[in-house]
Amino acid sequence: MKTERQLFANNRAWARAIDARDPEFFAKLSQQQAPQYLWIGCADSRVPANEIVGLLPGELFVHRNVANVVVHTDLNCLSVIQYAVDVLGVDEIIVCGHYGCGGVAAALAQRPLGLIDNWLRHIQDAMRRHRPLLDACRGPADRLRLLCELNVIEQVANVCQTTMVQGAWAGGRDLVVRGWIYGLDDGLLADLAMRVGRGDDFEARLRTAVAAAATRSISER
Ligand code: CO
Repeated sequence: MKTERQLFANNRAWARAIDARDPEFFAKLSQQQAPQYLWIGCADSRVPANEIVGLLPGELFVHRNVANVVVHTDLNCLSVIQYAVDVLGVDEIIVCGHYGCGGVAAALAQRPLGLIDNWLRHIQDAMRRHRPLLDACRGPADRLRLLCELNVIEQVANVCQTTMVQGAWAGGRDLVVRGWIYGLDDGLLADLAMRVGRGDDFEARLRTAVAAAATRSISER
């Protein structure tokens, strides 16, 4: 267990290392941020957004919650999307899930954990929509893998339906929403072929991406 003293020492070493590479770095960043991407990811400690994609402070606007869920009435997540799209002017929204997600596993197991059961209910709603695909999986590992992917795909669709993204597209903005998944065991990202831009039919994209995920988890494994 690291002590507070060690964490502050780490922080000073980190700031010195960045300053050595670029003495203007913090001065420039303190004046403005202009990230190109909004990242919506899981709160899991093993999925640090910036590190995975090798981006520095200032390059990624980040929202994380348990199991990277985008709920239509979650003012926290909606405010992040609104600020990112309208004020910061990001071009891309990335929903990034990960395999072996504890939140997704808990939703799948329907094991009571407390207050969070209400949050995970949203994943169980997605489970209900894809029940035949999940039932067709050979075992619990394949089922969890598939649901981790389906959850990302569903959350991308939820982002597309927000008033902010719909408004940006109606106003002619070339905003792209996409779904990725991260492997805890190899540190690699995979694209879930759920990419939606202005003029795209997100429900058609969702059907295609769901079918591809099902093929990976059911037929090939
Ligand atoms: Co997770």
